[in-house]
Amino acid sequence: MNILVTGGAGFIGTNTVERFAKKAEKIVVLDDLSRKGTMTNLTYLKENIKNLVFVKGSVADFDKVLSVYKKYRFGIVFHLAAQVAVTTSVTDPRTDFEVNALGAFNMLEGARLTGQKPVMLYSSTNKVYGGMEEVAIIKKDKKHYGYRDFPKGISEDFPLDFHSPYGCSKGTGDQYFIDYARIYGFKTVVFRQSCIYGDHQWGNEDQGWVAHFLISAIKGRKISIYGDGLQVRDILYVRDLVDLYEAAVCDIGKVSGKAFNVGGGPGNVISLLEFLDILEDLTGKKVKYSFGKWRPGDQKAYISNIAKVKRTLGWEPKYGKKRGIAKLYGWLIDNKGKLK
Ligand SMILES: NC(=O)c1ccc[n+]([C@@H]2O[C@H](COP(=O)([O-])OP(=O)(O)OC[C@H]3O[C@@H](n4cnc5c(N)ncnc54)[C@H](O)[C@@H]3O)[C@@H](O)[C@H]2O)c1
Repeated sequence: MNILVTGGAGFIGTNTVERFAKKAEKIVVLDDLSRKGTMTNLTYLKENIKNLVFVKGSVADFDKVLSVYKKYRFGIVFHLAAQVAVTTSVTDPRTDFEVNALGAFNMLEGARLTGQKPVMLYSSTNKVYGGMEEVAIIKKDKKHYGYRDFPKGISEDFPLDFHSPYGCSKGTGDQYFIDYARIYGFKTVVFRQSCIYGDHQWGNEDQGWVAHFLISAIKGRKISIYGDGLQVRDILYVRDLVDLYEAAVCDIGKVSGKAFNVGGGPGNVISLLEFLDILEDLTGKKVKYSFGKWRPGDQKAYISNIAKVKRTLGWEPKYGKKRGIAKLYGWLIDNKGKLK
């Protein structure tokens, strides 16, 4: 069986390729290498994965997508390629649409038109639930916001409300993946991911804040906090996410055509201020930071309710937030020479 990972030179992609290479005859990566750090990840993969096939190209280019499907035929497709920053989606909504919405559609159509029905996994986002302005946020203590009425977090019953071009484009892919299971009998699953962090993540201010904060601290750079630092996210270590990918493709009958909220859940909620404390413990140094204005669309809280995925697949995170952050810190120190 061949496996395709679009965006396979990205952060989650590299971890996915590493995990699934042994299960594949050929593991094919389709990536346009547009994201910074992808060359470093690709070099790592080329050195470590013997059955890797790298195809440089865009998921927005349907001829390219079709040629890949025709040449290899796949048992599993992980569609992870995306324009990932909300900020970029606002300045260049067309490219965002072409990569995320059209790109997701192309991956489904490529399979349909070449007569293949691989298991297809789509990495969606919690942004499909929008700004959630109507959800009451309270100050839980000096360092954390939290939900007043959702102690277990946001479940899949929450109404969809695509917000920002990124929300719209990723949400389009999310709905198409579900619909191809309904209309064409495809085996698809959608994971609405919260904040993922881990090895091979070259985070920046716009996307990947956990890695970005750690890299800044290691490099002695000042960190900018937008807002008051009490904002919270439920963070998930990438190895836990890849465990879930594996559980889902192994048990696709249970999850096909469904969407699941995926994150660290209520047990792994962290605020930026709490994160700074952990950083100081890890580095043994005072971390330099300053406060700036809230950015448009910044949420004070997002916490996933992971009960449905737990119930369906028996999956839950194994890495607690402190352990996962320490793992990533260790990995970044080991790879200090590659930090930009
Ligand atoms: N990391 C998170 O916290 C998080 C949260 C929610 C959803 N997601 C989703 O998970 C997926 C992977 O995210 P990531 O964090 O690994 O980001 P990433 O930026 O590291 O990976 C994305 C990859 O896609 C590639 N890419 C971009 N445009 C492309 C195109 N037109 N054609 C082919 N490849 C292209 C990039 O070069 C990169 O390798 C994305 O779909 C993202 O929306 C991530």
